[in-house]
Amino acid sequence: MNLTLESKRTLQRVLANTDLSELSKKDQLVFKQRLEENFVVLFSLLHQVYGQRYDFYYFLQQLVHIMKSALKERSHKLKQQDKKRLNEPDWFKNENMLGISCYVDLFAGDLASLEEKIPYLTSLGITYLHLMPLYKSPKGDSDGGYAVSDYRQTDEKLGSIKDLKRLSDALSEAGINLVLDFVFNHTSDEHQWAKEAQKGNTEYQDFYWMFDDKTLPDMYEQNLREIFPQVRKGNFTWCPEANKWVWTTFNNFQWDLNYSNPAVFNAIADEMFFLANLGCDALRLDALAFIWKEMGTSCENQPKAHLLIQAFNSCLKIVAPSVVFKSEAIVHPDEVIKYIDKGECQLSYNPLLMALIWNSLATRKTKLLTQSMRKSFEISGDCAWVNYARCHDDIGWTFDDTLAANLGINGNDHRHFLNQFYTDRFEGSFASGVAFGENAETGDCRVCGSMASLAGLEKAIEHGDPELINHAVARVLMIHSIILSIGGIPLLYSGDELGLLNNYDYQDEPSKVHDDRWVHRLSIQNSDVNNAKKLDTPNQRIAQGLEQLILIRKHHNILGNADTDFIEVNNEHVFAYTRRNDQGHTLLALVNFSEDVQRLDTKVLTQLNANAVLDLISKEIIDCESSDIQLLPYQTMWLVADKA
Ligand code: GLC
Ligand code: GLC
Repeated sequence: MNLTLESKRTLQRVLANTDLSELSKKDQLVFKQRLEENFVVLFSLLHQVYGQRYDFYYFLQQLVHIMKSALKERSHKLKQQDKKRLNEPDWFKNENMLGISCYVDLFAGDLASLEEKIPYLTSLGITYLHLMPLYKSPKGDSDGGYAVSDYRQTDEKLGSIKDLKRLSDALSEAGINLVLDFVFNHTSDEHQWAKEAQKGNTEYQDFYWMFDDKTLPDMYEQNLREIFPQVRKGNFTWCPEANKWVWTTFNNFQWDLNYSNPAVFNAIADEMFFLANLGCDALRLDALAFIWKEMGTSCENQPKAHLLIQAFNSCLKIVAPSVVFKSEAIVHPDEVIKYIDKGECQLSYNPLLMALIWNSLATRKTKLLTQSMRKSFEISGDCAWVNYARCHDDIGWTFDDTLAANLGINGNDHRHFLNQFYTDRFEGSFASGVAFGENAETGDCRVCGSMASLAGLEKAIEHGDPELINHAVARVLMIHSIILSIGGIPLLYSGDELGLLNNYDYQDEPSKVHDDRWVHRLSIQNSDVNNAKKLDTPNQRIAQGLEQLILIRKHHNILGNADTDFIEVNNEHVFAYTRRNDQGHTLLALVNFSEDVQRLDTKVLTQLNANAVLDLISKEIIDCESSDIQLLPYQTMWLVADKA
């Protein structure tokens, strides 16, 4: 079949049956033009997934109708933004970009009060704010909001959709991009669609994966992981109302949507446009690896998952082209990369960097980090990593076992060591972390904890040992120095900028006690912010050190849009990389992952092609003729040619 020809023909037919008169003349032109540009791709993608169905054309027609209505609903201001960003597609690569993610209630109380915190965010230099899911969700345990009961209503504790719109305007006024969650792999069992399914409505039962008996689930189960083994076994939940088994990858109240049904694609596209029209700049694609199920596979990272995400992306290009996708694929590094493309997700979490920063901190060795980054850091120039060290979730050790084996590291044993190290079961460890999702059968687990606690501050304070405190503070700053300079959007996790420690109160709360991720989902009080201003507390040293690093980043575009190369420096404790931009500037970052002084030959400075180099952080000048470079415990240097 000649796809281009058929797609043109189809578009003509569809448009002949679509009344565009409710759009303004200008929007009619825009809509037709964007369809002309994007429909071939969209058609081809959806044809690959749904083309064999007799009702394919019906759903295509319906989708165009949904897109038309969504464009009609899009505000004038957002349409202006669309125009602007079409001319500036790599806006997210700027050195000015700095992200933070937080829970509305924990950070501010509610949406209205969050508006009052904008000055705090701008004082930090934030230009990207990821608000954890704020939609209507079940009372009690809602997986931190990731069980959505209605995408068009906010959790009433936080305010209303009107408040959210107001906040989104205020943020855009302050130069802060808003990132919202697009939780599209599952809904909560209280979503209207799920309730209809429970009542026996077959149209909506087809929105989910429902089975009369265990035969098929058992067959699927043979190849599936268990994501939350601490709460239950298996991936299916019995629904007594419907008398059926339901596919529930995460908690039993999170029902996986059935994307083999094109009605689901259309319905979710409609919800996606609603979110885009609230004024967000990026949508975080939650659990995107899981959206396609295929018997006999792990049902993760399936080729058709990619096709569907690309199809959503091309719908967005038609309705809201200023909005980008951010991938949340916390999977094998070779799979993470596959979601990153301008036609799929322009942004992606960098879980490999995250995990390996913690690995190098534990081992004081950087080989695995360097080699892994060499293999997996480079992505298309139209896209960017979102580099983070902590987030609302646990740390999973998703590195490449083959690459590790080449370095003499046994993946499974090493993961076991890392888990022991970070959950304080390894003698000499500095970390205070909590095991998460412990699998009783395999002993496998993942790790939770705030950055400061994992980096040793909690223990150091318990011991009252100033040197240990120094080390912990230095580790926190060192971690931040990497995510701020390695290339991509640095993403802070609320509370870490103030060096806050784990909070164990969740252990007394029935709706939280089984989910140890709450140990690092911290509520931020004004007193925490004030405490970080008190001279010479660890919190102050962290907050102030971070502030300084951020300022440097904003003043040097070499820390923004530039290429990264990872280099070997003949010292296994030091992580090193260069950044080069097309204006001919170079920066060399050196990071000491150990609590001992490390020396390097000044030969590494030839990268900078200068007689003397300046460390942007300490402001020290190093003579390239001198015998060696000395890095203090956990010191980072950002070196550039000294112009003086
Ligand atoms: C993502 C979220 C996590 C949630 C899961 C299910 O991984 O980050 O918090 O539990 O998806 O929605
Ligand atoms: C995610 C990941 C898993 C993560 C979990 C949330 O989708 O695949 O590794 O830890 O959900 O806890």
